[in-house]
Amino acid sequence: MRELTVGLGSRSYPIFIAEGCLGRIGTDLAERRVGKRYGLIMDDRVAEVYGELVTESLHGAGLAVETLVFPHGEASKSLHSVADLAGRLASLGIDRQDALIALGGGVTGDLAGFLAATYMRGIPYVQVPTTLLAQVDSSVGGKTGVDIIEGKNLIGVFHQPRAVYVDIAVLRTLPREELLGGLAEVIKYGVIRDGAFFDFLENHRQAILDLQPEVITHTISTCCRIKAEVVAEDEREGGMRRILNYGHTIGHAVEGASDFTIIHGLAVAIGMVAAARLAVAQGLLSEPDKERIVTLLKAYGLPVAVPGALSRTRIKRYLLTDKKAVGGRLHFVLPTTIGRTCIDADISEAQIDAVLG
Ligand code: NAD
Ligand code: GLY
Repeated sequence: MRELTVGLGSRSYPIFIAEGCLGRIGTDLAERRVGKRYGLIMDDRVAEVYGELVTESLHGAGLAVETLVFPHGEASKSLHSVADLAGRLASLGIDRQDALIALGGGVTGDLAGFLAATYMRGIPYVQVPTTLLAQVDSSVGGKTGVDIIEGKNLIGVFHQPRAVYVDIAVLRTLPREELLGGLAEVIKYGVIRDGAFFDFLENHRQAILDLQPEVITHTISTCCRIKAEVVAEDEREGGMRRILNYGHTIGHAVEGASDFTIIHGLAVAIGMVAAARLAVAQGLLSEPDKERIVTLLKAYGLPVAVPGALSRTRIKRYLLTDKKAVGGRLHFVLPTTIGRTCIDADISEAQIDAVLG
């Protein structure tokens, strides 16, 4: 088992990474006394595969648990779901002495985290991520929120979990496309902060795709270590945390313009290549380094170009509503070499047109 810490003073919390830890959550929660009773929040698909295992783990440790299931998919990350789940929590008599468990992918983590942040003005919660994307990114760092028609994640708050439990065994039931989406975020960490990790990803492709336990544990713990370092330094995204958005500016626009038929991680892969090309155009990144990024993404089976059928006008409309725009100017995270980035707000519309192709 690997254990890491997100260092935030009195709000610090552990990240446990181990095969089979889903079945041991009850014992750990009983020791930590996170809540008196637990509201287990999960989507219908995750509930079917892992709901019983986690419920039994809590019962085995003498803990009371109420399960709350919602329909899978991004559409559930809404204020409507928050109101529905909060109503169910209230009917069950869940109060401030109790806690929530977010069991699932990023949709569940963001939704249940937001619910925990706002229900009764805030109750504790833990993250139990079951997609690779959630294990390496969304479960760590306390960003919670929901979407509105005008854009993704436009309503949200920072609310840090009390603990994160990463069970690598759950990745075996994850659909292939979801695994690939998570791998895009994994590659992101190599580009933004760790050249040696990028080399590792180049050299262990097959073992990673085969979910070889030691290699996948090292991969996930490296990503969590980087994310924990960045969050500890800049919890509320005043500066440094923005590097985690590498590939996300154009990625979010591609995701939205595709009506979410291109999943988050795959859109981020396209966005990472677009940002690398912008970096070359700005004279910040060498052509060979950009090619290494493109080659690695392709090697993992990830898309590297905006699909021809996708409306460029729609992508640009999404770019204009990006919540990371400051004073109307888009800030792009651009790589300067493998392992380092900078922020550039001096990108012209013509340059954006050129990289969208
Ligand atoms: P998701 O939560 O929708 O999960 C994808 C699908 O996989 C769902 O259908 C789910 O039921 C299924 N699933 C989950 N785990 C499974 C398993 N082990 N076996 C079989 N099926 C499983 O999607 P996601 O990609 O995990 O998360 C995307 C969301 O995360 C987006 O809303 C995005 O905005 C958000 N996000 C948040 C942050 C953050 O810092 N808070 C960071 C990145 C992404
Ligand atoms: N996924 C970006 C962040 O957590 O800041």
